Amino acid sequence: MNEQEEKPHFYGRRSGRRLRKAKAALMENFLPQVKLDPQNPLSFPIEHSKVYLEIGFGDGDHLAGHSAKHRDICYIGAEVFKNGIANLLSLITGIKQNDEVTDDIKLLPERTDNVRIWDDDIRLLFPLIKDNSIDRVFLLFPDPWPKKRHEARRFINPGNLKILARILKPGGVLRVATDHIIYKIWTLRQLHESPDFRWTAACGKDWKFEPSDWEPTKYQRKAIREGRRPVFLDFVRK
Ligand SMILES: C[S@@+](CC[C@H](N)C(=O)[O-])C[C@H]1O[C@@H](n2cnc3c(N)ncnc32)[C@H](O)[C@@H]1O
Repeated sequence: MNEQEEKPHFYGRRSGRRLRKAKAALMENFLPQVKLDPQNPLSFPIEHSKVYLEIGFGDGDHLAGHSAKHRDICYIGAEVFKNGIANLLSLITGIKQNDEVTDDIKLLPERTDNVRIWDDDIRLLFPLIKDNSIDRVFLLFPDPWPKKRHEARRFINPGNLKILARILKPGGVLRVATDHIIYKIWTLRQLHESPDFRWTAACGKDWKFEPSDWEPTKYQRKAIREGRRPVFLDFVRK
């Protein structure tokens, strides 16, 4: 599949429970301030050394945590699930769902303005991203679509890998985390067959444990609670 071809859905729901007042206000009043500008997807309000892209950030824990610790890096976060986007906004503003909200919402004072949100299917953004412009891509606990008949829905596939290879700088890194054995094997096979990427792991400890700059995610916590062991796979763009 290339950027133009027919696209199967990779994601499930786009919205869940009705948002409480504070989160609805964040979506209405604050999201426009941090929404990515599709005319200028790589323009950020601060000087930066690198650009990282997180695809399917879910509740935003990894994105909020990583971007708080790396203030000289700018981040694009893509997510279709409205409740997840509202949760990320809550994390970066410090506004909780039962808080009273005014119109004048601001980032937490200790944060820098280094996150831009794409609140739609990442595949619609890909054609707008220039070649060799992204330093890292995070794809953390993507929906595994384990059934054989749903293979076409798996995000890791030859078409998407070609696109990720195009937008990543040489030496850039694609990080995939998963807790699903089928998705792990699938990912390793797809990446092994790709001429554009090389798996960086030299031994088990390089993929069985959290990387040093890791931030925990909701799906990672769920996997551990349910007795599954996540793996962390880094692939470098050749
Ligand atoms: C299983 S969840 C994992 C969420 C998060 N990364 C975590 O580890 O907790 C996968 C997420 O990817 C999002 N997603 C799936 N396909 C997407 C796409 N094409 N564009 C943007 N987001 C997508 C879904 O909405 C969902 O929130």
